[in-house]
Amino acid sequence: MAIDQPATRPVNPRFSSGPCAKPPTFDVAKLGDAALGRSHRAAVGKDKLKAAIEGTRELLGIPADYRIGIVPASDTGAVEMALWSLLGARKVEMLAWESFGAGWVTDVVKQLKLDAVVKTADYGQIVDLASVDFDNDVVFTWNGTTAGVRVPNGDWIADDRAGLTICDATSAAFAMDLPWDKLDVTTFSWQKVLGGEAAHGMIVLSPRAVERLESYTPAWPLPKIFRMTKGGKLIEGIFKGETINTPSMLAVEDYLFALDWARSVGGLKGLIARADANTQAIFDFCEAHDWIDNLAEDPATRSNTSVCLKFTDARIQDGAAFAKAIAKRLEAEGVALDIGAYRDAPAGLRIWCGGTVETADIVALLPWLEWAFEAEIAAQAQAA
Ligand SMILES: Cc1ncc(COP(=O)(O)O)c(C=O)c1O
Repeated sequence: MAIDQPATRPVNPRFSSGPCAKPPTFDVAKLGDAALGRSHRAAVGKDKLKAAIEGTRELLGIPADYRIGIVPASDTGAVEMALWSLLGARKVEMLAWESFGAGWVTDVVKQLKLDAVVKTADYGQIVDLASVDFDNDVVFTWNGTTAGVRVPNGDWIADDRAGLTICDATSAAFAMDLPWDKLDVTTFSWQKVLGGEAAHGMIVLSPRAVERLESYTPAWPLPKIFRMTKGGKLIEGIFKGETINTPSMLAVEDYLFALDWARSVGGLKGLIARADANTQAIFDFCEAHDWIDNLAEDPATRSNTSVCLKFTDARIQDGAAFAKAIAKRLEAEGVALDIGAYRDAPAGLRIWCGGTVETADIVALLPWLEWAFEAEIAAQAQAA
C-alpha cells in the first residue's frame, strides 16, 4: 500500500560511501589559508604537511615510533605501494570478502604472481579469521566497504607474528578502533571517513614494516612513486611531509580542516560514537521492518560506516531492478544521493554512516526509505 511522503527531509542528503560527506561545518571559504601557488617544499607548505601527519597521529593514537606518510593515488596508491615494496619476502595470505579485498588478491596473484594462500568469503560473510597463519604476510581489509562487513576487532591477529599484517583501513580509520600493535602497514585515504578530498592516501608503518623495507629488496622493479627506500635505508623525509611528488595543497588544507572538526566532536571517541549512533538508527529500522535486512550476517561483523542493506520481501520480482528503482526514487526526491549498492555487490542499498553524517539526517531518511519501498511495491503490482 503506497504511503504519504514523510514531512521531514534530511538536511544533507549526501550518504555516498566515497567521496563521503564533508564535515557538517564545512564551507569552501574556510580553506582560504591554503598554501596555494607556493612550493610544497617551502616552509609554509612543509609545515602544513607535517601538521597533517602529526594531527593524524594524535587523533588516531598512532604510536610515536610508527611512520606516517602522505602518498599519491589515494588509498589504492598506499595499498599498492605496500604490496609492491614489502611482499615476496615470505609466503602471503590474502583475505577477501568483497570487491576491494578481491582487487588486492588480483594484484598479488595475477600481477605480482606470488604464491599466496587466498581465503575468500561471499558478500555478507567473513573468512575464518582463526585459521590465519601469521608466519605469512597477511593482507586484509578492515572494513569491506562494498559488503558492509568488518573484522570484529584485532584479537585474531597474533602478537608474536613472524609475518607482517598489511591492512586496508580506508573505511575504518576515524570510525573504528584500530589496534596499532597488531598492524604493520595501515592505509587509508582522505576522501573517506573525514570527508576529505580525493588524490592523497596515508600509509602507516610499524617499526617491523620499516625493518622489512630496509632488509628486503623485491625481485621486481619499483616505480619512483612507490619507492620508500634509497640505498637500503628508509627515506625518512617522506614521513615528515617531504612527499614523493607534488601534493595538492588545497586538499591538504581541506584535510587540516577535517582534522580540526574531528577534534571538535571529541576526537576518535566522538567520531566512533557518531558512526555508532548512525548505524544503530538503521539497525533499529531493520529490526522493526521485515522487508529489509543487513547484508552482514553476523552482527559482530556489521560495519558502522558502510552499512549495506538487502530487500527480503517475497513479492519483489527483480531484486536488482527493485533496489535501483528505490535508490533512483530517493535521489529524485533529493533525500538520498548515491546509496545504490556497489556495482559488484549484491542488489541493495549502501548508506554511509561515518562521523561526518548527522544522525538526524539518517533518522529523517528512514521513513523515506519506507515510502520508496511501498511506492515501488505498488508500482510493481500495477505493472503486473
Ligand atoms: C576498502 C576500500 N579500499 C580501497 C578503496 C579505494 O580507495 P581510493 O579510491 O581512495 O583509492 C576503497 C574505496 O571505496 C575502499 O572502500
